[in-house]
Amino acid sequence: MDKTVLVSGGAGFIGSHVTVELLAAGYNVVVADNFSNCDRTCFEGVKKITGREDLPLEVVDFCNADEAKAIFEKYPIDAVIHFAAFKAVGESVAKPLMYYKNNLQSFLNVLQAALDKGGCNVLFSSSATVYGEPDKVPVTEETPRKPATSPYGNTKTMCEDILRDTVKASEGKLKSILLRYFNPIGAHPSALIGELPRGVPNNLVPFITQTAIGKRECLSIFGNDYPTPDGTCLRDYIDIVDLAKAHVFAVTRMMEGKMKQDCEVFNVGTGRPVSVLELVNAFEKVNGVKLNWKFAPRRPGDVTAIWADPTLANREMGWKATRTVEETLKAAWAWEKHLAGK
Ligand code: WQD
Repeated sequence: MDKTVLVSGGAGFIGSHVTVELLAAGYNVVVADNFSNCDRTCFEGVKKITGREDLPLEVVDFCNADEAKAIFEKYPIDAVIHFAAFKAVGESVAKPLMYYKNNLQSFLNVLQAALDKGGCNVLFSSSATVYGEPDKVPVTEETPRKPATSPYGNTKTMCEDILRDTVKASEGKLKSILLRYFNPIGAHPSALIGELPRGVPNNLVPFITQTAIGKRECLSIFGNDYPTPDGTCLRDYIDIVDLAKAHVFAVTRMMEGKMKQDCEVFNVGTGRPVSVLELVNAFEKVNGVKLNWKFAPRRPGDVTAIWADPTLANREMGWKATRTVEETLKAAWAWEKHLAGK
């Protein structure tokens, strides 16, 4: 098919895995990134995995409206997948203005550029964080959103609203799908791309793998007094390749005109709650390593339990997560060892 997808933030953790799957599905891909939050490791890895040394890379700051516009002028973009955003919850609490400016301005510029070019399909990288602490689990797409517990989460809620309103006013020029991710973890089976947090990891799995490889002294498990079976928080950990494939299903749904509304929302999760302790134990077991960890006080802002009801995505897009937590943790460990040159 001769369809072109622009992947903004395409050199990042999720963007690079999505680029691999889009190329495998036969799409033309343009990767755009300003490398403010990642280096070129994953972009180089994508070229090795796909054999596409000619993969177009554009260094773009989407906060600059002219740069955003220039990309839409240069390429015949049929769909844009927007990942370009800052995503560290804790950092967003310390630096809210930086998050609102970056995450909102970049998205506004992408939408304006797409509209100025006559419109296109828009796939937005949203997050389960918009549900806050849900009253009932699992959460469906009808579960009411709650006030975000961080500026990062609030930018996701605000971008969802901006997109919905802009699509509605676009008289059919824009069609969009919002994908609400749960907890993306793992790495590509080739161990050539994966999560590359800058500095001390905020997220659980990179902290686990960095502790196991000896980069971190000890993993703190934040809280073991939650009202859950083992006292630690429950999450829906979704393999990054499963998540990446969901983007191909969504883009194809838009390209083939299979949407039922101009703006659709899908939860992208496994539907399987896993506790922090279960994840740590599974990591040790499947990789044959002993992890140095301890219980620590709860982390402010953490949600006790959240996991997806993925029925809608399964039914409407035909997409389903297939990888087990064990497979995912094996890939995460292989990636960490690759980074350490082991
Ligand atoms: C998971 C669980 C922690 C680190 C956030 C964003 C979400 C998404 C993923 C951005 C929690 C516990 C963690 C550690 C721990 N987007 N934990 N020790 O907070 O569920 O979701 O990241 O990438 O939008 O909200 O993910 O991996 O930080 O935490 O015990 O060193 O692991 O308390 O229960 P979270 P997480």
